[in-house]
Amino acid sequence: MHKDILMKAVVYEKFGPPEVLHLAEVEKPTPQDDEVLVRVYATTVNYGDLLARNFSHTSPGEFHMPFLFWLLARFDFGLREPKKQILGSEFAGEIEATGKDVTRFKPGDRVFGYPGQRMGAYAEYLCLPADGALALMPDNLSYEEATVIPYGAITALNLLRKVNLQPGQKVLINGASGGIGSAAVQLARYYGAEVTGVCGTPRVAFVKSLGADRVIDYTQQDFTQNGETYDLIFDILGKSSFSRCKNSLKEDGIYLLASFKLRQLAQMLWTSLTGRRKVVCALSTDSPKDLDFVKELVEAGQFQALVARCYPLEQAAQAHRYAESGQKAGPVVISLDPSGNCEPSTAERTARDTEQALSAVAEMALD
Ligand SMILES: NC(=O)c1ccc[n+]([C@@H]2O[C@H](COP(=O)([O-])OP(=O)(O)OC[C@H]3O[C@@H](n4cnc5c(N)ncnc54)[C@H](OP(=O)(O)O)[C@@H]3O)[C@@H](O)[C@H]2O)c1
Repeated sequence: MHKDILMKAVVYEKFGPPEVLHLAEVEKPTPQDDEVLVRVYATTVNYGDLLARNFSHTSPGEFHMPFLFWLLARFDFGLREPKKQILGSEFAGEIEATGKDVTRFKPGDRVFGYPGQRMGAYAEYLCLPADGALALMPDNLSYEEATVIPYGAITALNLLRKVNLQPGQKVLINGASGGIGSAAVQLARYYGAEVTGVCGTPRVAFVKSLGADRVIDYTQQDFTQNGETYDLIFDILGKSSFSRCKNSLKEDGIYLLASFKLRQLAQMLWTSLTGRRKVVCALSTDSPKDLDFVKELVEAGQFQALVARCYPLEQAAQAHRYAESGQKAGPVVISLDPSGNCEPSTAERTARDTEQALSAVAEMALD
């Protein structure tokens, strides 16, 4: 095949551990009339990538959504082997070419976007509909920073809109260090809420640096047992439950779930008919307007894009291994920009500084 119609991509031909990911040369896509061709400069390792890479080994019980969703995902990702061999559900890059019907973008525009379950961003080039979840990226960010925003921000924004958050309300986010939770912390703060984030030990500094008023390490403290009450408990993975959270909700409080099963859907129906505390299970939809909104927040300094670690494309397997290690301090980025700087940003610096400070204190205590 001619060199111009080939591109570099990280592909996988069988489900499994990070090692199934490898660099290859594949055919460069061509945009349809209503599509844009993007030169991808950065992408991420997020929940969806880790799930899709190993989906045949994920049982319905391990999947945080109803069985029907698992079944649909199984068909979508592939029954025996991966149907979509290129992962990557969010990206930042530059418009390389546009289909003849596209008026929203022009070659050279710096964009970020969320192809979601279509995937495909672990490659130099990606085609997607011009009216999809795609927008001009914030002027003040590098590609490596901009790419950590689309998935989490779109999902958190959509879900928080379902509960009409008011300034001054108390919000707890269970899963504040992940893709959705880290955006939810920042959006809830933007809406004027007082925010408590819950996460694991290595990510406490990261969640603090997002602007959370308080951070609870779930390995040290059970937030349902500390006597605090909230207007909203946003549970990202559904690790808690309505019955456990009830006493931590104010009288009109809402238990909002990004991940839920049939049981929680039944609770939503039941609590909509009885009682004052409600369960809300919600699904997000993608809209370019949401990305435009977040772009403005970033440019106004009201939403940060923090990167914990950045790996070059050829080290995608290492990036996945680190993301799954339990030690990651925040978002993990894969860079395809030869001139880009794969430097850790504030998140890792903050986490590293905190780690150093803690070990210095521990050493002093030992002396
Ligand atoms: N409703 C929708 O429309 C929608 C859309 C997209 C995704 N989702 C769902 O959202 C979920 C993925 O969210 P995400 O991308 O934010 O995931 P993620 O990046 O993997 O983050 C998961 C979060 O859960 C936390 N966590 C893990 N174990 C915990 C525990 N025992 N107690 C409290 N928190 C715990 C993690 O904390 P540490 O890492 O600090 O330990 C982290 O903050 C999936 O279930 C997916 O199906 C829903």
